[in-house]
Order: sequence, then structure tokens, then C-alpha cells
Amino acid sequence: MDITSRSVIIVGGTAGIGLELARRFRAAGSTVVVGGRSTDVLAQLAEEGFGTVEIDVTDSASVTRARDDALRAHPGIDTLVTMAGTGAQEDLWDPGHFATAQAIVDVNLLGTIRVIDAFTPHLLARGEGTIVTVSSGIGFLPYPPMPTYGASKAAVHAYSEALRAQLAGTGVDVTELVPPAVATWLGSSNPHALPLDAFGAEVMDLLAQEPTPRELLVQGVLMHRWAERDGTYDELVAQRSQGLAALPGRTRR
Ligand SMILES: NC(=O)c1ccc[n+]([C@@H]2O[C@H](COP(=O)([O-])OP(=O)(O)OC[C@H]3O[C@@H](n4cnc5c(N)ncnc54)[C@H](OP(=O)(O)O)[C@@H]3O)[C@@H](O)[C@H]2O)c1
Repeated sequence: MDITSRSVIIVGGTAGIGLELARRFRAAGSTVVVGGRSTDVLAQLAEEGFGTVEIDVTDSASVTRARDDALRAHPGIDTLVTMAGTGAQEDLWDPGHFATAQAIVDVNLLGTIRVIDAFTPHLLARGEGTIVTVSSGIGFLPYPPMPTYGASKAAVHAYSEALRAQLAGTGVDVTELVPPAVATWLGSSNPHALPLDAFGAEVMDLLAQEPTPRELLVQGVLMHRWAERDGTYDELVAQRSQGLAALPGRTRR
């Protein structure tokens, strides 16, 4: 895509990867609206010249209101990035994890669907546009301490594939960003996390390709994305299962 002339909304753009891409899209010349719950960050970004909307992706009314606010101020929005996400470790020996599982699915999967549903009629009416969904390397290669997070991201992958097929021929395309561990609040527990700046630069290079790739795969995620094909899956899952010993409940047993 031409990253210099887009009108982009990044839902989940107040921190981490979303904020990094918001700044990079804007620096390249695009108009950017940032969405999120953190009103103090939104106020600061508005001062910097970003469009902003308050949005909680777990609340359908909030999503509809944010969509209406964003389109009123920026009727030419042509790129939707569904970045909002959350994650946590869960001990599946403890049924008490269910509330965590529910909260993760509500943001990562249902939140993605709510936001896409809100903007799809607008994009279809324009007859062109791009939806950028955000999955994770963990959706392709499990990290066993984070089961529902991985499941929600595998679901975002499957949803993105179906969405692309359903929108084929409409002018609205779908591209899936598949980050590996990146040094943000969410990725902070991983010592191998990619620096945010380097990750952002690589993603923008991928986005700038014509046509926009179906999947945005930085070098650091290729081992996750293709583990099954490469025959490394079992070995890598075993390695990544070592983190289970560090779950807080396990040390007591
Ligand atoms: N960092 C990694 O290692 C990594 C790896 C693979 C995939 N990802 C994915 O990349 C995306 C961004 O992650 P990140 O690492 O940048 O995380 P982050 O720094 O924690 O940022 C998360 C963003 O999501 C927003 N958000 C969370 N819950 C929300 C809600 N209910 N409604 C609206 N916005 C919400 C937050 O905004 P507010 O708090 O202002 O609402 C914030 O802007 C996520 O989808 C994540 O799963 C990250």
C-alpha cells in the first residue's frame, strides 16, 4: 500500500506496537486516528496532531460510538488496524483461570470482530480499503503458559482468512500482522523480544510493498509461522513448555 497517503485508524494505538505504527504512518504522510481507552494518552496524542477516539473494544456501544466519531471527523478512513489486545499466563490446573480466558477472548477475538463489523459497511461503501488484523507468532507456535492468548490469536488468523475470502472482489483487502515477541508492555516478559523501533521499521517496509502482502511476517516470526512446515514444531513446543515450571501455582505443588 502507499503508506504516504492513507487515512488510518488504529484501534489499540495508545501504546506499544499500535502507537509505534501510528507514529510511523503519520511520519510517512498518512492521516492517523488513534483509538483506545487511555484518555490521558489520547489527549496527549491529540495535542501532537493525531485524530483520537475513545473506544473499549469489549463494549459494542463504545465501538459504534467511536466508529461514528472517527468517520464524522475523517470520512475518508481507508485503513483499519485492529491492534487492541491483551494477554496473560494461565495455569490450566486451576479452573479459576476461566475469568482470564474469557477476558482475553473478549478483547482479542470478539473485540477484533466488533471493530471489523463496525467499519466494514463504510469500507464496502468506499469500494476500497484495507483491514489489518493482528494475530501473533504464538497463534502458529504455542507458548504453553499462555493458552487462551494463543487460541485467541489462532482464531484471529482463521477469521482473517475467512474475512479476506468474503471481501474478495469488493476492493477491500485484508492483511494479517503476525508479530513475534516485541518489547512492549505485553511482550515485556520475553528477554528475546524485538526492539519496538526495529520491529516498526520492518513492518512499515512490508506494508509498503505492492500488493500489500496477505501476511506481514518480519524475519523474527518466520520460525513460528512455518514451524509445522519446517518440521521444528514438536521440538520448539517442548522448549517453550519449559516456561510452565515458572507458573506461580506450579512451584507450590
Ligand atoms: N508485544 C508482543 O510481544 C506481541 C506479540 C504478538 C502479538 N502482539 C499483539 O500486538 C497487539 C499490540 O500489542 P502490544 O504489545 O503493543 O500491547 P500493549 O503495549 O499492551 O498495547 C495494547 C493496546 O491495546 C489497547 N487495548 C487493550 N484493551 C483494549 C480494549 N478493551 N479496548 C480498546 N483498546 C484496548 C491498549 O489501549 P488502552 O489501554 O488505551 O485501551 C493499547 O493501545 C496486540 O493485539 C497483541 O496481542 C503483541
